[in-house]
Amino acid sequence: MEAADRRRSRRRAGIPGTVTGQVALVTGGARKLGASICRHLAGRGYRVVINYRTSRARAESLAKAIRAGGGQAVTCRADVTRERDVRRMVDRVKRSFGRLDVLINNVGDYLEKPLARVSPAEWEAIVRSNLTSVFLCTREVLPLMRERRQGRIVMIGYAPAGRIAASPRCAVYHLAKTGALILAKSMAVEEAPHGITVNMVSPGTLFNSVKKPSRTASDYIPAGRFCRYGDLLGMLDYLLSESASYVTGGHFVVSGGYAV
Ligand SMILES: NC(=O)c1ccc[n+]([C@@H]2O[C@H](COP(=O)([O-])OP(=O)(O)OC[C@H]3O[C@@H](n4cnc5c(N)ncnc54)[C@H](OP(=O)(O)O)[C@@H]3O)[C@@H](O)[C@H]2O)c1
Repeated sequence: MEAADRRRSRRRAGIPGTVTGQVALVTGGARKLGASICRHLAGRGYRVVINYRTSRARAESLAKAIRAGGGQAVTCRADVTRERDVRRMVDRVKRSFGRLDVLINNVGDYLEKPLARVSPAEWEAIVRSNLTSVFLCTREVLPLMRERRQGRIVMIGYAPAGRIAASPRCAVYHLAKTGALILAKSMAVEEAPHGITVNMVSPGTLFNSVKKPSRTASDYIPAGRFCRYGDLLGMLDYLLSESASYVTGGHFVVSGGYAV
C-alpha cells in the first residue's frame, strides 16, 4: 500500500461503521444499484470485488475510481447463472484475499409480460437470473464464510416478494424473487449456527428503472417518490453492522409504503 493510500485508510478508519480488511463481493456490480453498493462499501473500508458479466469497461472504470479515492477494488467476470463461472469467481476471491465477509446478491433481471406470452426460454432466464444465481453464489461462498465463523449475505429482492398474491404481467419475476426470499430464510436458519446471517432487502420501484410504470410515483407509492439508492444503502449498513449480528432471515422492504 502506498503512503497516500495508508493516509486515506487511516482517515476512513475514523468514520463510524468503517471496517478494515473485510472483503465484499457484489454481483452485477458494474452498473446501477450494484455500482452504487460497490462505491458505498469501498467508502466504508471494504475490499470490494465487482462482479460483471458484459460491462467490463464499466467495472474497470468503477474499480479505478474506487482506487483513486483510496479504496480497494478488483473486478471479476462471471455469469452468475452458471455454476462453473461462480466457482471460478469464488476461487479467485479465495486466492486473492483468503476470505469473504459479505456477499450481495444483486443480479436479478426483470420481465414484464402476461404469462400467456412468456416463452419457456424467458421463464427459464428470469428464474435463473433471480433464483438460481442466488442459490449458486450463496452456496459457493458458505465454506469461506464458515471457516471464519462470520458472514453477511444480502439478497436484493423486490417489495412484493413476501406476498403470495397475483402479480399480473410480472408473475415470473415475482415468483422468482419470492423463491429467493424462501431461500434466504432457509439459508438463514441453516447457517445461523455458523455465524452467518442471510437477509433480503427489497426496493419498490427504483428511480432509474427502465420499466417504470406509466403511473407516476404518487399514484401508487405512499411516500410519493421512487426509491433512491441511498434509501437502500442505510439498510445495508445496518445489516452489515455488528448491531445486526442477531438479525437473520429478515425481509426488509424499502419502498416508501408500496406493497407493504
Ligand atoms: N430497477 C428497479 O426498479 C428494481 C425494483 C425492485 C428490485 N430491483 C432489483 O434490484 C437489483 C438491481 O437492479 P438494477 O435495476 O439496479 O440493475 P439491472 O438492470 O437489473 O442490472 C444490474 C447488473 O446485473 C448484471 N447481470 C445481469 N445478469 C447477470 C449475470 N447472469 N451474471 C452477472 N451479472 C449479471 C448486469 O451486468 P452486465 O452489465 O455486466 O451484463 C447489470 O449491470 C435486481 O436484483 C433487481 O431485480 C430493481
